[in-house]
Amino acid sequence: MQLSLVGINHRTAPVAIREKAAIRTGKLDDSLSRLGRYVDHGIILSTCNRTEVYTTDGDGRRNEEGSLDFLKTHLETSDTDLSQYTYILKDKEAVAHLFQTTCGLDSMIIGEYEVLGQVGQALESAERIKMTNLPLRQLFQGAIRTGRRVREETGISKNALSVSSVAVDMATRVVGDLAKCRMLVIGAGEAGRLVAKAAKDRGVASILIASRTQERAAMLTEALGGTPISLGNLAGEMHTCDIIVTCADAPHWIVSADHVAAAMKLRSGSPMVIIDIAVPRNVEPAVAEIDNVYLYNIDGLIQISDQNHQQREGEIEKAVEIIMNEIAEFNAWWQMLEVRPVVSALMKKAEEIRRAQLDKTLKKLGSLSEEDHKSLEAMTKSIVTKILREPVRYLKANGDSNGSAEMVRELFRLPGEKPK
Ligand SMILES: NC(=O)c1ccc[n+]([C@@H]2O[C@H](COP(=O)([O-])OP(=O)(O)OC[C@H]3O[C@@H](n4cnc5c(N)ncnc54)[C@H](OP(=O)(O)O)[C@@H]3O)[C@@H](O)[C@H]2O)c1
Repeated sequence: MQLSLVGINHRTAPVAIREKAAIRTGKLDDSLSRLGRYVDHGIILSTCNRTEVYTTDGDGRRNEEGSLDFLKTHLETSDTDLSQYTYILKDKEAVAHLFQTTCGLDSMIIGEYEVLGQVGQALESAERIKMTNLPLRQLFQGAIRTGRRVREETGISKNALSVSSVAVDMATRVVGDLAKCRMLVIGAGEAGRLVAKAAKDRGVASILIASRTQERAAMLTEALGGTPISLGNLAGEMHTCDIIVTCADAPHWIVSADHVAAAMKLRSGSPMVIIDIAVPRNVEPAVAEIDNVYLYNIDGLIQISDQNHQQREGEIEKAVEIIMNEIAEFNAWWQMLEVRPVVSALMKKAEEIRRAQLDKTLKKLGSLSEEDHKSLEAMTKSIVTKILREPVRYLKANGDSNGSAEMVRELFRLPGEKPK
């Protein structure tokens, strides 16, 4: 059995590529059904930092090719174009990657909480579409348990930053003082809520929240203060804002260069900072060329996230220790899973031989005392156990990584097939 991971993430691909690979939460089930045309079992993890496909089954190579074909079709691109952005990890490396990712160590913002929930959603969705099998389920559950442990037992997520709060920090760096600024937040989901909260905590002068569903924006402003507006009203309000943070989960641009150019004409040369943390992006990239407009996307937050990484170095070490222990436990389980059928077949065959030989001998010996009978049973059992102890220990310790389970199956002519 092999585990394969084929992915694209914030280290290997810019947001312009990641946004094409990103699968929005509502589309995950459909995408898993499409993945099912290429592989038997798989889980897709798609966040603003990454889109990854995890697969297990007997034939790792077929799964890798299946995952790559799925991504190629999803991105509408060729093999060559895709290969420059993808990474492929196998078995223990793939396990380690998922565990680290779930603990927030592979995120742009170290220790962020969101990825833990997203890993849970990825598993739930794959269960719903019946794309999981025992190893994948165990793998993701193990990663989620480890993610929770790391957050509870280390300070990695203490006062955790989020992409949203880093976006507000970035805006503060550019404008200097939020107390003189009016901010527009586009998107009233989780990211929008975190942006609005961070802006309020840092003393923004006033805030507008725009959402496709205006009631959702109204609920947020009720809780945090500010004014709700509809997306249709953006053009009328944009020029009044010094900072715009966009975080709507739309598959298209919401803020066009024409929108911003028109707004800037009304701002008498006053600058505007736009931070687009949505993936796919909400702001047309050409906006960056408009005078006095400072446009940043999620990749532009890297500098602040690097500082956050340095500050959490000690906690990262503690997290890594927990992760290593949990990975060792999972790997031991996985190896055991691989060799379990061979070990049971071996024990069964040995017991059958012992029983048959003992019965033959007992017949020849005629009547024996109960005590002698028990002694013969115990002695033959002990011989079998002692002979098998080392081979079984070896199989449990090494799994089938070097083909030893198959070798044992052949040597002892055991029934059954290679485990899937
Ligand atoms: N959550 C995070 O911490 C985080 C971190 C980094 C980046 N992001 C990015 O931020 C974006 C939003 O994430 P989220 O977690 O806040 O999602 P969410 O909780 O599902 O909220 C989605 C928001 O987007 C709006 N929306 C959805 N489809 C839309 C469309 N077609 N046109 C206009 N608005 C639409 C929703 O409006 P309705 O109320 O009408 O549905 C809602 O306001 C995503 O691109 C995500 O990658 C999020």
